[in-house]
Amino acid sequence: MDNFVFKNPTEILFGRGMIAQITERIPAERPVLFLYGGGSIKRNGVYDQVRAALKAHQVIEFGGIEANPVYETCLKAVDEVKAHGVGFILAVGGGSVVDAAKFIAAASLYKGEEPWEILLTGGEEIQAALPLGAVLTLPATGSESNGNAVISRQATHEKLALASGLVFPVFSVLDPETTFTLPKKQVRNGVVDSFVHVMEQYLTFPVYAPLQDRFSESILQTLVEVGPVTLAEPQNYDARAAFMWSATLALNTLIACGVPQDWSTHMIGHELTAFYGLDHAESLAIVLPGVWERELEHKAAKLEQYGVRVWGVQTAQAAIAATEQFFQSLGMPTRLSDYQIDAEEAAEKVRARFTERGTVLGEHQDLTPDAVAAILRSRA
Ligand code: NZQ
Ligand code: ZN
Repeated sequence: MDNFVFKNPTEILFGRGMIAQITERIPAERPVLFLYGGGSIKRNGVYDQVRAALKAHQVIEFGGIEANPVYETCLKAVDEVKAHGVGFILAVGGGSVVDAAKFIAAASLYKGEEPWEILLTGGEEIQAALPLGAVLTLPATGSESNGNAVISRQATHEKLALASGLVFPVFSVLDPETTFTLPKKQVRNGVVDSFVHVMEQYLTFPVYAPLQDRFSESILQTLVEVGPVTLAEPQNYDARAAFMWSATLALNTLIACGVPQDWSTHMIGHELTAFYGLDHAESLAIVLPGVWERELEHKAAKLEQYGVRVWGVQTAQAAIAATEQFFQSLGMPTRLSDYQIDAEEAAEKVRARFTERGTVLGEHQDLTPDAVAAILRSRA
């Protein structure tokens, strides 16, 4: 097992009615920025619950955070923070709103010239951030309990990530009932995104970390069990609760302790979203099987272990096939052609960008821009 430091400072408030508990956790001395997305929270009662919990606070509302949150919009929120002397940011929505809150929290206190530098340096430049909390309405990203955020810049079709210990939410409310109104597509996306988060931390090579392996496999097995149920029965509280907690545990840094990590599927997927506007999870379902095929030799031991323990199949190839079938069974396409995207063109665009940035991916740092292009061509 490799050395590691584990610290997850986010307090989780899980279950029905827990939004009411945010009142005492948000300082009332300075205004609160209430950040949300395109309006789903106004249609499902979450907005009203949050307003009720904040009735004694001074609240500055900022709606309109996009799916794949946009840098330019976040900068407008930073202006609001500065104009009103905001002391706390409350994100209410999916991962996009939580990610935006993290970036706004850091950009509001950033001393450099241009806050985009925070993203160009992957979050290393962050020296301070406003405290933030979350009311999560979409289980998927794990953003409610980690220090990551991904922000898109419309003008340049870039999508870049930051990671910093300074932007973990202070608390996150996970009330499964707030997710009952999710469209099926978002539930499907959430199951696939959580599944792939586990894979980026698990499906590498063995370092004798049996507990981390079994944590990962238990999350995968739970997603396989409850994914189809929660997709078919949106108001089944128990299934939704199991899914929601699985999504958090999939990316709250626990299963990454002491093991190698990959993340190439995510890095390639972000480019597909930046260039073609695919949903985050849609991009992952295309790329993951291609990365595994390409890295078959290095990943064979873990693929076989995963196949046996999660699917009851004996070979790495059968494990890859079972995974792709699982995604498809949830209604998730796994090929570029399903979106009328030309694989040759996508391969060239991503190759050029990774070459320019000097990006090399994978737990063995062997996925060069040419290898990435070959992966994308294989996913036509
Ligand atoms: O904007 P509103 O109106 O709220 O609608 C949203 C949005 O259109 C809707 N929605 C959310 N909760 C709902 C709901 N609709 C009905 N009922 C509800 N309860 O769902 C749509 C998608 O929301 P979004 O927040 O974009 O989805 P998700 O949570 O999947 O977040 C995706 C973003 O997170 C990033 C992705 O790259 C992408 O930008 N990621 C963040 C990570 C992290 N911070 O650790 C890791 C991930 O790998 C990922 O990269
Ligand atoms: Zn993801």
